[in-house]
Amino acid sequence: MPHSAQALPISFPDPSRSRTYDSVLDLIGNTPLVRLNRLTEGLPATVYVKLDGFNLGGSSKDRIGLNIVREAIAGGELRPGGRITDTGAGNTAIGIALAGNATGHPSSSVPLPTLSPEKARLLEFLGVELLPGRPDVPREDPENWANVAQRRAEAETDGWWSHQESNGDNPAAHIASTGPEIWHQTGGRVTHFLAQIATGGTVSGTGSYLHEQNPEVSVIATDFHGSMHSQSNLYRVASGEPDAEQLERDWPENIDLDVIDRIERRDREAAIALGWRAAREEGLLIGLSSALSLGVALDLAANADEDDVFVVFSADSARDYVSREYNLAWLRENDYPELAERLARGDYSAPTHGSTDPDTVLVARADDRVLA
Ligand SMILES: Cc1ncc(COP(=O)(O)O)c(C=O)c1O
Repeated sequence: MPHSAQALPISFPDPSRSRTYDSVLDLIGNTPLVRLNRLTEGLPATVYVKLDGFNLGGSSKDRIGLNIVREAIAGGELRPGGRITDTGAGNTAIGIALAGNATGHPSSSVPLPTLSPEKARLLEFLGVELLPGRPDVPREDPENWANVAQRRAEAETDGWWSHQESNGDNPAAHIASTGPEIWHQTGGRVTHFLAQIATGGTVSGTGSYLHEQNPEVSVIATDFHGSMHSQSNLYRVASGEPDAEQLERDWPENIDLDVIDRIERRDREAAIALGWRAAREEGLLIGLSSALSLGVALDLAANADEDDVFVVFSADSARDYVSREYNLAWLRENDYPELAERLARGDYSAPTHGSTDPDTVLVARADDRVLA
């Protein structure tokens, strides 16, 4: 169904509201919150997107990079000139490099094999050492990415492994910044907060701040079918299934099930299609994890109340995906030929496959669970 045209702004923003900063590191946080108009046409609720791609290094992970490095220096764990090492999807390594380079700390990263070429080039440009490692093999395997990070940290006297998945300064960054920003930007009207879950820092930290302001806010973690978390029994434990009480695998300590109200999973293909649609119909440039959460928000907003205010967290921008999922040639060559043909025709619908129907995991109360 064609959308009605959106009215263009009649002028540029008031120049007297533009700001000047004392340091590039002041360009982390205070990211814009923008209301959607076209993708939400006909929906009763309001949907906003928190655009963390506006951070200095292009993602939400600048917030945690800054906080982790600052606190490690303050606490003496990171000694002068010491190398910082970690595993991750690439964005944290950029955030750590910004804060590390500003304070004289070189860094190394063991990225996911899906690291986009754009992020890899930026990391190299920032001087980050990229090391190969595998997240999909057991911890006993020397190639396991955590072992690679650990070995690199131990190879230098002042090497330090920042452990973003269990480092409390990761969620603390979101408690101190993302949560208060969203509360302020919505005037306390936020009713639903959605963010993709990896280390859990974003959803746990922001969610705990929002719950403190209003326990009724629904905090929703989103995930892809087939993700690392999906491949463990995390979700069965989270939903309190009686035969799934112990986690079968280490999981990020920064995932706080006392904060997360529910977990929603969707197909990667649906998120890719929505990422394209957001750009083509709303001019919204958001990454894949953002499109995943946006899809869930649009589903839920269809049955929501008029007063409901959804905030979708966008960790990074579409710019980071234009040589992979936001590229027709890449899609054709990488298992998505049918999707590529549909997108080329301007058809942004994503069929729901039987085996990957959207499903929800309602998180059980903490006292009903036994965690390993
Ligand atoms: C693009 C993107 N979205 C979402 C996430 C998930 O954030 P968190 O680690 O805070 O759960 C990450 C983390 O790696 C990410 O890089």
